[in-house]
Amino acid sequence: MLVAVFAGDGIGPEIMAQARRVLDALDLGLRFEEGLVGGAAYKAVGHPLPPETLDVAKRADAILFGAVGDFDCDHLERHLRPEQAILGLRKALTLFSNLRPAKVFPQLAGASALKQEVASAIDLLIVRELNGDVYFGEKGMRKTADGLREGYDVMSYNEAEVRRIAHSAFKAAQVRRGKLCSVDKANVLETSQLWRDVVIEVAAEYPDVELSHMYVDNAAMQLVRNPGQFDVIVTGNLFGDILSDQASMCVGSIGMLASASLDANGKGLYEPIHGSAPDIAGQGKANPLATILSAAMMLRYSLGMAEAADRIEGAVAKALEGGARSFDLGGTMTTQQMGDAVLAVL
Ligand code: NAD
Ligand code: IPM
Ligand code: MN
Repeated sequence: MLVAVFAGDGIGPEIMAQARRVLDALDLGLRFEEGLVGGAAYKAVGHPLPPETLDVAKRADAILFGAVGDFDCDHLERHLRPEQAILGLRKALTLFSNLRPAKVFPQLAGASALKQEVASAIDLLIVRELNGDVYFGEKGMRKTADGLREGYDVMSYNEAEVRRIAHSAFKAAQVRRGKLCSVDKANVLETSQLWRDVVIEVAAEYPDVELSHMYVDNAAMQLVRNPGQFDVIVTGNLFGDILSDQASMCVGSIGMLASASLDANGKGLYEPIHGSAPDIAGQGKANPLATILSAAMMLRYSLGMAEAADRIEGAVAKALEGGARSFDLGGTMTTQQMGDAVLAVL
């Protein structure tokens, strides 16, 4: 099995190093091939997603991704910015189904921004559509008739795009608690009206799943008021981006949330939901657990190594139980020490 390893920018290399140590310790016979992405790739070869990197991604059985984003690059034309690496990979490999599980580790309920009794009920999965929406519509800058600068980004979904993510979400709900909440803004947006209509059509094929609908503003509120009500949430690219960062703080830290981005055949890219965290890069303060848990998701979903995935997830839980706490979790342990704690259990 070949794993493409793209560490990226900021804390990317620091958190990736710890995930690699964990995978190496399990001795799974995996082959690794590294590639340049993001600002690091732009600075080295002039493009955030060089053709060689895309080639490794296509050949690999799975991709482990750190993070991209570099404030030095924010003045570049959009197609040269670091973020285009992750957006380009998602699009080029048709990774349309982004699974972002948020579950409280009982040991961490105290780290949540919510009251402990509210936080401890969280066990949800956000299924975020990743290939469409306002992210990939026509965009640009223009002048209005009276000479004002105007920026625009077209939001749209076609029914095939909604149908395939709806199937992913219903299937995910079937193997969880059988509840699916579709989050949209159908009271205002035509994109969302189509989304809702298609999700209802697809529901006919999943009579065992209980479907509900919620507007995104209410969903943001309910996620804080009573997150335990959610099993699977399915939503569009932009709403899913925002709600998943919010869910991370309900769980305890953005440094804890892993994700899988899958195509129709189970090939996937695995990454923490957070970014390159330039404010703490190079200081040893990054929590590597989201990346380590992403590696576990990779073993489970793309490489058929569920047992090894269980071992990693179990080791993370044990390390937390033993008191492993990085700065984001209120502790003082460095990125490397967090890796050490997981390795010690393994
Ligand atoms: P961010 O997620 O990088 O950081 C937000 C806050 O969370 C910061 O205070 C940061 O220190 C903290 N944080 C993030 N990850 C952490 C970790 N593992 N451990 C401890 N603390 C952590 O979001 P941002 O600051 O809005 O964006 C920074 C850059 O990252 C931008 O260029 C953005 O475009 C990019 N970004 C990339 C991805 C990705 O590669 N998939 C995701 C989100 C943001
Ligand atoms: C994420 C990030 C990306 C997104 C950015 C970096 C393009 O925020 O993976 O959540 O918006 O999808
Ligand atoms: Mn995001």
